[in-house]
Amino acid sequence: MLYSQVIPERCIACGLCQLKAPDLFDYDQEGIAFFKPDHNQGTTPIEDPKERIAFKTAYTACPTGAIVRQSTPFSS
Ligand code: F3S
Repeated sequence: MLYSQVIPERCIACGLCQLKAPDLFDYDQEGIAFFKPDHNQGTTPIEDPKERIAFKTAYTACPTGAIVRQSTPFSS
């Protein structure tokens, strides 16, 4: 399984993740990204193959390493 979160302290609001994976990433009022499917809890797996590809593109594009991933759910 694939789970993701955005570490807000690392996000510089560059906008690339939302451009690359609009179903997976969105922004708060200050432009800081969050993982959209579960409001950045990191407990909802990315299962759809197309979304997994979109995720990989966004993950790779993020200039600050703000997007993190792991194979088990994040504990909030
Ligand atoms: Fe922030 Fe990285 Fe997205 S800097 S806006 S999490 S691509």
